[in-house]
Amino acid sequence: MKNIQKTALVTGANKGIGKAISIKLIEKGIRVIGTSTTKNGVKIINEYTKKNGFGLILDLRDTSSIQEKIKEIYTKKYSIDILINNAGVKSDKLLVHMNKQEWEDTIKINLSSIFYISKAVIRSMIKKKEGRIITISSVIGYIGNKGQINYSASKSGLIGFHKSLALEVASKGITVNIVAPGLVETDFIKDLNIVKYKKYLSNIPMKRLGQAEEIADLVIFLSSNNASYITGQTLHINGGMYM
Ligand SMILES: NC(=O)c1ccc[n+]([C@@H]2O[C@H](COP(=O)([O-])OP(=O)(O)OC[C@H]3O[C@@H](n4cnc5c(N)ncnc54)[C@H](OP(=O)(O)O)[C@@H]3O)[C@@H](O)[C@H]2O)c1
Repeated sequence: MKNIQKTALVTGANKGIGKAISIKLIEKGIRVIGTSTTKNGVKIINEYTKKNGFGLILDLRDTSSIQEKIKEIYTKKYSIDILINNAGVKSDKLLVHMNKQEWEDTIKINLSSIFYISKAVIRSMIKKKEGRIITISSVIGYIGNKGQINYSASKSGLIGFHKSLALEVASKGITVNIVAPGLVETDFIKDLNIVKYKKYLSNIPMKRLGQAEEIADLVIFLSSNNASYITGQTLHINGGMYM
């Protein structure tokens, strides 16, 4: 039988966890279409994907462009076999100081965009009778955190979405899962001051941060045939911070 190369769409593939996932997918022989909000990000993606994929500008705040970009991918005759919803933002403030924009942008990028992007790929996956949807949530979606009501709400909102979608497409050979990391050493947490950093670290039984590659290894497993009977789940990866 002809071995057709699979394609993965990875949002936020220019750095951090998304880049680590993309590099490991390519190592597995999977083509990667990676997104970034900037031209420089697309350049980074093009540099590491080489002939195994390409970068695409995508800002998840712009819901109409999500549909357009995915249409563009299908027009170029690529299928999307694996969808990795990785891109995410935080904008931390106590509720008393948080404004409408900070709430709405975080919900839009971390939660609402998943609706638009999943909707844009699901028909094709159903038609092919196979597919993988894996979304990066966060331990904060499960335990909450002071100063992160927008982030926490956006990440826990993903749970109901993924369980429901998993039920809708389980009989079509499509699995839908969440990976929920604890603290991972990327630019995402570079604004943490030393006091907060030490406080967080004291809550991690393994006494260290996670590495992007460790999160990527779990995502690679979920995207593989070895994970074909896992759906509707959250897989926690946090050094014991939350069990
Ligand atoms: N690091 C942690 O401790 C940690 C813990 C738990 C969960 N997570 C989750 O892991 C995921 C990846 O985070 P990371 O640690 O790798 O952070 P990161 O290095 O800061 O990367 C964030 C990614 O999100 C993309 N992004 C930001 N705003 C976007 C927008 N409006 N539209 C589209 N893409 C956008 C960025 O693209 P551009 O650079 O091109 O803007 C970037 O690629 C996020 O969902 C985050 O919530 C991280």
